[in-house]
Amino acid sequence: MTEQHRQTAGGTRDQRLRERAGAVIPGGMYGHQSAASLPAAYPQFMHGGRGARIWDVDGNEYVDLMCSYGPVVLGHQHPRVEEAAAAQAALGDCQNGPGPVMVDLAELLVQTVSHADWAMFAKNGTDATTMCCTIARAQTGRQKVLAATGAYHGAAPWCTPRPAGVTPQDRANLGYYTYNDLASAQRAAAEAGDDLAAIVVSPFKHDAGFDQELVDPAFARGLRALCDATGAALILDDVRCGFRLHLGSSWEPIGVSPDLSAWSKAIANGHPLAAVLGADAFRDGARQVFVTGSFWFSAVPMAAAIATITALREGRAVEAIQRSGAELRDGILAQARSWELPVNYTGPVAMPYLSFAGDADRELAGVFASAALRGGVYLHPRHNWFVSAALTGDDIALALEATDQAFAAVRKRLAQ
Ligand SMILES: Cc1ncc(COP(=O)(O)O)c(C=O)c1O
Repeated sequence: MTEQHRQTAGGTRDQRLRERAGAVIPGGMYGHQSAASLPAAYPQFMHGGRGARIWDVDGNEYVDLMCSYGPVVLGHQHPRVEEAAAAQAALGDCQNGPGPVMVDLAELLVQTVSHADWAMFAKNGTDATTMCCTIARAQTGRQKVLAATGAYHGAAPWCTPRPAGVTPQDRANLGYYTYNDLASAQRAAAEAGDDLAAIVVSPFKHDAGFDQELVDPAFARGLRALCDATGAALILDDVRCGFRLHLGSSWEPIGVSPDLSAWSKAIANGHPLAAVLGADAFRDGARQVFVTGSFWFSAVPMAAAIATITALREGRAVEAIQRSGAELRDGILAQARSWELPVNYTGPVAMPYLSFAGDADRELAGVFASAALRGGVYLHPRHNWFVSAALTGDDIALALEATDQAFAAVRKRLAQ
């Protein structure tokens, strides 16, 4: 392990980059990767990564438990994915039309995801969730979309969690329900009446900053029945969970099929790509809408996606993630018990969220994360973590050494 937080004359390279960024980038950085709201020990700028290890611009090495906030599922610089991307790049990427890989990828997704009869592509998760709503409205001729209160579906005006720059009109056609509370969804649907176009839902409740909640299968089946009864589209936002929990839609294990699903993050192991998958009943709506982007049809990320999905299947990566995630959870919970610290470790083991009982302002979570970072593991104090298939036994052992030190730091803080 390299010396943590190498300091040179004039500060760390990260500090110098932050100063330069402050002059030419509003706020120095923005969006979900802004380190401004992270503890001070966190680097803003990263140098690179390989497998489950990443390096910041000052040469500090970490076991990566954030996976670029989800996109990296097989590990950084996965050889098979990078080879496929390089081979496509040698032919062409951004061209006058898509490459044959677009058709290959659409076929692969339709074979892989049981509810999908067709696929469309874009760049980011927000593109995909927004497209799902647009397609649902085009197909049904209705306007209202229901979403769970507090759920994250992207950063467009209809769904961004920050009010700056958003008008009431941007939200005029939205209604809200409470996750896992079917009666609240039924009430919101009744309010929308015959103008209900869609219900958007995530595979489980993963709102940042809160303990996670697995989906109640009866709730999922109830939403399906509500959509069947009203003719609205059931939209599954699989952007964060897709291909990390199951090699198909994340609701396949509970037997609930959406009409439309939104994907991005892990589908190309870090290459920029999003997809909307849909059932035949919504194909006409999908054909009618005009949706596009200068880079949406680039061939390299599509080649990377084909290699990613193939490697996920052949390497039984979802199972590997489950095993590593369970080992991490068991180790962390045993440590919490031995330090006599009451923690909540919620959500699937592939995407866990750790919180301390009574830590309303997340102060202890910050102490824990900072100490873990110093010990060489990059995790997050207020967002679910992501387990990749690249974690080795050594990586997990190192991560658990760091979390043990981190629990010690929390104990010390409580004793002060
Ligand atoms: C569930 C969910 N939906 C949509 C999005 C938006 O995706 P993107 O940031 O790629 O636009 C995210 C991003 O974190 C997400 O977690």
